[in-house]
Amino acid sequence: MHRPPATALLVALTTLVSAFSWPSITPSSSITWHSCYEAQYQCARLLLPLDYLDTAEASSNSTLAIAIIKLPAQVPYSSPAYAGPIFTNPGGPGGSGVAFLRRFGPYLQRVVDVPGTRHYDILSFDPRGIGESTPRVDCFPGGALARTALALEVRGTWGLDRGEDALRHNRAATEAYTARCAQAEDTAAVLPFVGTASVARDIVEMADKLDEERRAALAAQEDRHRLELKRDVEGPVRVQYIGFSYGTVLGHYLAALFPGRLGRIVLDGVCDVDDFATGPGWLSNLKDTDEIFTQFLHGCHIAGPSICSLSREGDTSVSSIQSRVTAFFEALEDRPSHVLHPDGSSAIISAHDVRALLGSMMYQPLNMFRPYADILSAAMDGNMTLLASRLADGGVLPSLATSCPIPDSGNGEPGSDGGHIEGMHAVVCGDGDDVTDKDLSWWSDYVHKQTSMSSIFGAFWSAYRFACSSWPVQTRWSYKGPFTTPPADASLLPDRPAAPILFLSNRLDPVTPLANARSMAANHPGAAVVIQEALGHCALASTRSRCVAQIVSQYFENGTVPDHEVSCEAECGPWDHGCTLFDSYDTEFDASASRLLRQDRDSLRLPLHPLGIL
Ligand SMILES: *[C@@H]1O[C@H](CO)[C@@H](O)[C@H](O)[C@H]1NC(C)=O
Ligand SMILES: *[C@@H]1O[C@H](CO)[C@@H](O)[C@H](O)[C@H]1NC(C)=O
Ligand SMILES: *[C@@H]1O[C@H](CO)[C@@H](O)[C@H](O)[C@H]1NC(C)=O
Repeated sequence: MHRPPATALLVALTTLVSAFSWPSITPSSSITWHSCYEAQYQCARLLLPLDYLDTAEASSNSTLAIAIIKLPAQVPYSSPAYAGPIFTNPGGPGGSGVAFLRRFGPYLQRVVDVPGTRHYDILSFDPRGIGESTPRVDCFPGGALARTALALEVRGTWGLDRGEDALRHNRAATEAYTARCAQAEDTAAVLPFVGTASVARDIVEMADKLDEERRAALAAQEDRHRLELKRDVEGPVRVQYIGFSYGTVLGHYLAALFPGRLGRIVLDGVCDVDDFATGPGWLSNLKDTDEIFTQFLHGCHIAGPSICSLSREGDTSVSSIQSRVTAFFEALEDRPSHVLHPDGSSAIISAHDVRALLGSMMYQPLNMFRPYADILSAAMDGNMTLLASRLADGGVLPSLATSCPIPDSGNGEPGSDGGHIEGMHAVVCGDGDDVTDKDLSWWSDYVHKQTSMSSIFGAFWSAYRFACSSWPVQTRWSYKGPFTTPPADASLLPDRPAAPILFLSNRLDPVTPLANARSMAANHPGAAVVIQEALGHCALASTRSRCVAQIVSQYFENGTVPDHEVSCEAECGPWDHGCTLFDSYDTEFDASASRLLRQDRDSLRLPLHPLGIL
């Protein structure tokens, strides 16, 4: 019989995989899995209520479709080692769980699984309004070029810390932007319903639907007996969850609103949830940022010129590097530079741009310290090419080339970040206190608070909240706290978490400092803080530590947390040879390390955004 050559088969397979598109799945009110992307993943589109507060018959038909993705456990549902799904959220807000899972799923599964004993489904989803969930928050439907044009128009103000005129110009741009959001038909309808309380409820709904799907699958295998037995003991299904960055905010809403549904909750890279939900907002992030930059320069000096290109033969101390960098910034402040692209376009590069880039570098020291030292070093030698291309990758430098023809992320290509910046603003501005009545002097004061906390990232960071200065709607289901939980009880008492919350933090984190993990943990009886002795954003997502992995795995198995606070060594650091995040857990991921580097812009982090910052 004729057998197709292996290559033809491969081509056929590849075609099959890349042919996956979310619209090909018909959304339904129960979970039906479809093979998607690389063959090991399964996807579903689940219909959930648009408005949980509206129980009236008339509008109860209004639903949205949540895009869910699963890396299935390595054992079947019927196995005694099957340990249920773990939900994950990558942060943002506005980050795509689908894109995240495809990069981090296998790694996280290695961290939590106990081979032969405990095997988990790793699960994620694009939160309502985001990415492949529909309808999507998109203030420029079909008009990516319009979004880019507006972003380019405000770039010239060089940051919100450049006085009242910069604030005026940015405010006008923000007003134009938010007016677009209020006008965009599908988006305006969904804006009041994408808040974090609703997303927390979605998780509980998904957990119930997953349980139904699993029960149905087992029943089909006539394993009903085992199933019923288990259910009687357990009561309502408990949620297992790992949240990163903004995902810790989501975890806090989940914990505060549904304490009786909590199974295991890991919060990594901890936001101050009160600072998210109330007050001026986003003022608790940058405590450690400048210190990480100092550590970057220090490490560079110790590593020396063969490893860190900012270092020079003959440097006597770190201050040699420091003074060259300072001189570069001063020169760039005085005389911003430019790049000419081969396609005929050009771009101006300001010191503000370089600071934004350095801020983003600190999220992932393992991947970024060395290449960014090269980039900065080349820029200091007068070659801005690499720097400009990184700025473009990060969205700081909006690119016309990618705006036209209009990209459509509906095919879920690996490069798609799953979301527009509007998704983030819808959550940040809708959930936070209304700041539309604040005048320019209030904002000037706000920006000053940020820049005095971090000279590198403060001005850039201010822009996240500044977008709310004219945001048109508040979240319908708003929750402002208290963000606390009752004491955990392993016997699954109603309204009690099954285990205390486990907090993880790097010693120094550029946007979610350890101080937040400590102050948040204090609100939850029995909670523990695990400190990973490393730099970067989020512990599990930035650096390898067997110690942290073991604590997390043990926690999922038994619900036990360390006593109060412990410290874990990292296995290696950003200047060590061959130190990458994935390889010790998942050698298959080595091959995709370069892809990760390319895609660092939409990995675990609050996205750099093209509006208001510039
Ligand atoms: C809700 O759905 C029912 C049954 O499908 C339909 O008869 C009714 O008209 C719908 N109501 C609205 C407001 O769309
Ligand atoms: C600038 O750097 C880029 C990327 O490394 C390189 O291709 C280019 O040749 C450099 N330009 C000059 C003038 O050295
Ligand atoms: C979890 O608890 C069981 C039963 O007490 C014990 O046998 C097991 O070693 C524990 N697992 C871990 C990782 O501590």
